Amino acid sequence: MLAVTDLSKQFGGFTAVDRVSFTVGKGEILGLIGPNGSGKSTIFNMISGTLTPSGGAIAFEGREIGGLAPHRVTNRGIGRTFQIPRPFRRLSILDNVILAGFYGQGRHSKKAAQAAAEQALDLVGLPHDPHAKVDGLGAAGLKKLELAKALATAPKLLLADESLGGLDEHEMNQAADMLKRIRRETGITIIWVEHIMGVLMRVVDRVMVLDHGEKIAEGPPSHVARDPRVIEVYLGTDTQAADAAQTRIA
Ligand SMILES: Nc1ncnc2c1ncn2[C@@H]1O[C@H](COP(=O)(O)OP(=O)(O)OP(=O)(O)O)[C@@H](O)[C@H]1O
Ligand SMILES: [Mg+2]
Repeated sequence: MLAVTDLSKQFGGFTAVDRVSFTVGKGEILGLIGPNGSGKSTIFNMISGTLTPSGGAIAFEGREIGGLAPHRVTNRGIGRTFQIPRPFRRLSILDNVILAGFYGQGRHSKKAAQAAAEQALDLVGLPHDPHAKVDGLGAAGLKKLELAKALATAPKLLLADESLGGLDEHEMNQAADMLKRIRRETGITIIWVEHIMGVLMRVVDRVMVLDHGEKIAEGPPSHVARDPRVIEVYLGTDTQAADAAQTRIA
């Protein structure tokens, strides 16, 4: 479904993503992990059209999408969440998601956008009461709203930049279960970015690890969690994640 080849991004003289290649199959959940600043969001930004790649190719369903404008990428069937949610605070939860629904594949009527929005809100478990306000949402609720906005565009491929920081362990596990359920109910393909390894490893079919913009490992979670380079990266930056990966995956 998605084939990324030698994808690179430079900011000035700094290489944020360094010749990364990977593929994602239909219906798969691919986990993308790595320490802060390792290039995860930059890869999402290039796939979704927010940033133009410095080099490499991104083929979606056999067609090149690298460098397309974000709304065109959305129209091809790729939805994304942003790591830092910025909803329209004056609009209701429902209206935020309806607005996103208009960006779905060729959708032009309010009725169709509203139907897509209500379905997306049901999937994440938020109310479609037109009076429910964004202000009442905590960190976990804002992440759900972000997910609902992406789902309302009716994506075939969802890029979820979750970064579960700010959520407690119970909320993290709920978020992980939600992604699994969404895949089961919609058949959608998901790339899930996270830098907390333990929770992600429970859900994904395959995982890819980045460090300083380079891919350092890829494979089934149980295999990657034992990879010496991955253990080194995580012990160096996040001992809690390393411990979690060791205890949960072993
Ligand atoms: N627009 C930009 N201009 C300059 N540098 C950038 C830009 N976007 C990202 N970077 C840099 O590129 C590197 C990769 O950033 P990126 O946001 O992709 O990391 P990340 O893996 O998503 O990290 P985190 O886990 O903290 O979200 C970082 O060093 C970051 O400072
Ligand atoms: Mg990021």
